[in-house]
Amino acid sequence: MSKHPKVIVIANSKGGPGKSTIACNLAVEASREKKKALLIDADEQQSSLNFRSARAENETLLQFQAVSIAKNTIHKDIGSFTDFDYVFIDAGGRDSATLRSAILSARPLLLIPVLPSQYDIWATAKTIEILEEARSFMPIKAVLLLNQVNRNTTIAKDALDALQEFKLPVLDTEICQRIAFKRAITEGKGISEYEPAGKAAAEIKNLWKEVKEKWL
Ligand SMILES: Nc1ncnc2c1ncn2[C@@H]1O[C@H](COP(=O)(O)OP(=O)(O)O)[C@@H](O)[C@H]1O
Ligand SMILES: [Mg+2]
Repeated sequence: MSKHPKVIVIANSKGGPGKSTIACNLAVEASREKKKALLIDADEQQSSLNFRSARAENETLLQFQAVSIAKNTIHKDIGSFTDFDYVFIDAGGRDSATLRSAILSARPLLLIPVLPSQYDIWATAKTIEILEEARSFMPIKAVLLLNQVNRNTTIAKDALDALQEFKLPVLDTEICQRIAFKRAITEGKGISEYEPAGKAAAEIKNLWKEVKEKWL
């Protein structure tokens, strides 16, 4: 058991790019590898906590701990979670102080999900600003992740071009828009538990592999 868990913060001040979906699925992937995962819900919407509750009703699933810290003390509290291999922080919402605190906890990685839409890309600028501020205190690796990509359009390609302005790496893995993601969450399942052989599960597995191998 690690004394220094790897902390992966999944954040965007914009609602809806898939922070909770990604955070919950990555916590499931880590658990499936028999790693000790903690999910910290730093959003007052408490989607990750609700996911954890739905999951707890199904005894056949591997369980992991989830706690809520929707306050600006996350970067101070994080030091006490020494018992875990990985900590995933689902951080969003309107409160910038909480978001700032979550981003300051990224050791080593801030993962920023973005939808392939210009509105979402504009709205992500605020998160990048907070990152730049945090980087004046400590080195933080940060990557962008395109989520809810629709392969029938070229919008994702346009979005990739537009994202260049942030001067941050974009993950090779893209997550497509797939209804299975919504259905799995309802049952408290990660997508690789809900539909193990499906395309969505393959995407999440690739995402976790890319994050682990290249960014942690
Ligand atoms: N790849 C995806 N395909 C389909 N639906 C998705 C996908 N990612 C997220 N969603 C859905 O989009 C909505 C917003 O996602 P959520 O994870 O709650 O975003 P956030 O936590 O950033 O607000 C939810 O209804 C979720 O089920
Ligand atoms: Mg959420």
